Amino acid sequence: MILLETITEDKIRQMVTQFYQKVRNDDLLGPVFGDQIADPDWPHHLDRMCDFWSSILLTTGRFHGNPRLKHAALPHIEPEHFERWLALFEPTLHEIYDADTANQIFARALRMREVLQTAACA
Ligand code: HEM
Repeated sequence: MILLETITEDKIRQMVTQFYQKVRNDDLLGPVFGDQIADPDWPHHLDRMCDFWSSILLTTGRFHGNPRLKHAALPHIEPEHFERWLALFEPTLHEIYDADTANQIFARALRMREVLQTAACA
């Protein structure tokens, strides 16, 4: 059970901002994202990612998209990309949330990885 009182829109924004800062600086993930998202488009991407996590964690229904199809369309994605994604996401969660909440959100990401990795690395 996710602890709703510890998850707010502000914290989701903080989580998304800090996480994609790490992603953009990462030697493996940075170039993949750089190829897909031009610099001026980053604010839009971050807004979409806030909508996505708000839909998942606060059930706001704000996100309308098909992440499975988006990831299936990315070129040259391997399981190691997902490993790195998760390796950056987990510490970001612990920077923002208490350990229990961080672990619960991470468990959600692990479940999504199953679906997205199958689509992206098929
Ligand atoms: C569990 C892990 C992941 C989750 C939960 C996740 C989630 C998402 C979501 C929700 C979107 C927005 C889709 C949309 O706008 O409709 C997105 C976009 C994107 N993701 Fe992921 N993702 C994950 C892993 C990865 C990995 C490993 C990569 C590549 C190395 C990646 C690369 C991208 C890129 C480049 C976009 C932008 C696509 C575009 O707008 O054209 N993602 N991701």
